[in-house]
Amino acid sequence: MKFLIGIFVGVILSGAAIVCYFVFGFAPVAVADKPMPFERAVAEKAVDAHIDRQTVKDSPLAVNEANLVSGAYLYGMDCAGCHGLPGKAKGAMASAMYPPPPQFFEGHGGGGDPIGEIYWTVANGIRLSGMPSFQNILSETELWQVSQVLANKDALPDAAKSALASAGSDTSK
Ligand code: HEC
Repeated sequence: MKFLIGIFVGVILSGAAIVCYFVFGFAPVAVADKPMPFERAVAEKAVDAHIDRQTVKDSPLAVNEANLVSGAYLYGMDCAGCHGLPGKAKGAMASAMYPPPPQFFEGHGGGGDPIGEIYWTVANGIRLSGMPSFQNILSETELWQVSQVLANKDALPDAAKSALASAGSDTSK
C-alpha cells in the first residue's frame, strides 16, 4: 500500500515539475537558448512520423531540364535566402534561426529525401520552425518543380546550375 502511495506521489511530483518548468519560464524560447532536453530528437521524430503517415505522392511532372531550370529559378527566389546556394556563403539570417535551415548545397547538406516528402514539406511547412508553407504562394506545378531541384541536387543539368548561379538573392545579407 505504502509502495502504491509512493508511486502515486512520485507521478504527481514529476507532473508538477514539468508544469513548473514551462509555467515559470525555464523552457528555452529564444533562438540563442540551448535546446530543451530531447527537443531535437522529439521534434525530428514527430515531423518524420507525421509525414510518413501522409500518402507520399510521386511527382506528376516529368523530371526534365525544363522543369529543373524553372525549379532552380524558383529556388533562387523563394528558398536560397534560408537554404543557401552552391558556392555561396551561408546567409546571416539563416545563421540566426533555430532550428537552423539545412544548407542544401553545403557538404551533404541534408535533403536527398524522396521527392514526395520534399513536396509535402514545401507545400505544408514545418510548425514551430521557420519553414513556411508554400501551398498558397506557389502553384502545384511550381511546388513540384522546386521539389525536383532538391531531389536531384547532385545531378542537375548545366542549365539549372547556371540558373542557381545567377540567382539574385545575396544570401550573405
Ligand atoms: C524563412 C526561412 C525559410 C525559407 C524561405 C524556406 N525554408 Fe525550408 N526550412 C527552413 C527551416 C528553418 C527548416 C528546418 C526545419 C526543422 O529543422 O524542423 C526548413 C526545412 C526544409 C526542408 C526539410 C529538410 C530536411 O532535410 O528535413 C525542406 C525540403 C525545405 N525546407 C525546402 C524549402 C524550399 C524548397 C523552400 C523554397 C520554396 C524553402 N524551404 C524555403 C526555413 C526556410
